[in-house]
Amino acid sequence: MDICILGLKGGIGKTTTAIHLAAYMQQFGDTLLIDADKNASALRWADRGNLPFKVCNVEGSVKHIRKAKHIVADTKARPEREDIKAVAKEYDLLIMPSPPRVLDLDALLKTRDILVEYGTNYKALLTITPPPRKRPGGSEKIPSSKEQEARELLEAEEIPVFVSTIYQYTAIEKSPLAGVTVDQYEDSYSTVAWECYQNLGREIYVQ
Ligand SMILES: Nc1ncnc2c1ncn2[C@@H]1O[C@H](COP(=O)(O)OP(=O)(O)OP(=O)(O)O)[C@@H](O)[C@H]1O
Ligand SMILES: [Mg+2]
Repeated sequence: MDICILGLKGGIGKTTTAIHLAAYMQQFGDTLLIDADKNASALRWADRGNLPFKVCNVEGSVKHIRKAKHIVADTKARPEREDIKAVAKEYDLLIMPSPPRVLDLDALLKTRDILVEYGTNYKALLTITPPPRKRPGGSEKIPSSKEQEARELLEAEEIPVFVSTIYQYTAIEKSPLAGVTVDQYEDSYSTVAWECYQNLGREIYVQ
């Protein structure tokens, strides 16, 4: 399966999502992460440690593409319309990450407006979102108001959105420094953080 992560804004969780989704897909076959961002954040993440899948830039991807069963592409912030057009039809799924902030969601709406022109399969993903809280006296978890409001906005705009949310955890933020995915990062929240990506992965691909 070929998946592309894209968005008009910077700092919305594209690279972090791409890395963890590639780790999920690797469980089902050789996965290649193509780092199509000149900032090379994914390549640097890989260089710092030991990721369970191959990461390369566009120029170095030819041979690896032939071998890969799954491809996950990470893209740059502020792509031109031509960049979006180029990837729109090449992938099975385009994921548009966004934190639940008004300006980020507004940029997501713009991305969607471009993608609909090309008839692609796209879906929004809430990232860097405050984790749900336990209801006082109970074990049931309630989503933050930010998450609820973002979901309402996406629904009103008729944008398909993943049920899974990628919550904000320091362990996720720190894992690139160790060059690992969050499940390999030593932290008491690493398991619960990795579950976010596993849930997302299961929505996308089950062997
Ligand atoms: N779920 C999360 N929890 C906590 N921090 C996160 C999470 N996802 C991403 N971050 C942090 O948010 C920042 C932006 O994330 P990331 O680099 O993945 O975004 P990006 O969209 O690829 O940015 P750019 O456009 O600059 O390439 C980083 O510092 C990253 O560690
Ligand atoms: Mg990035």
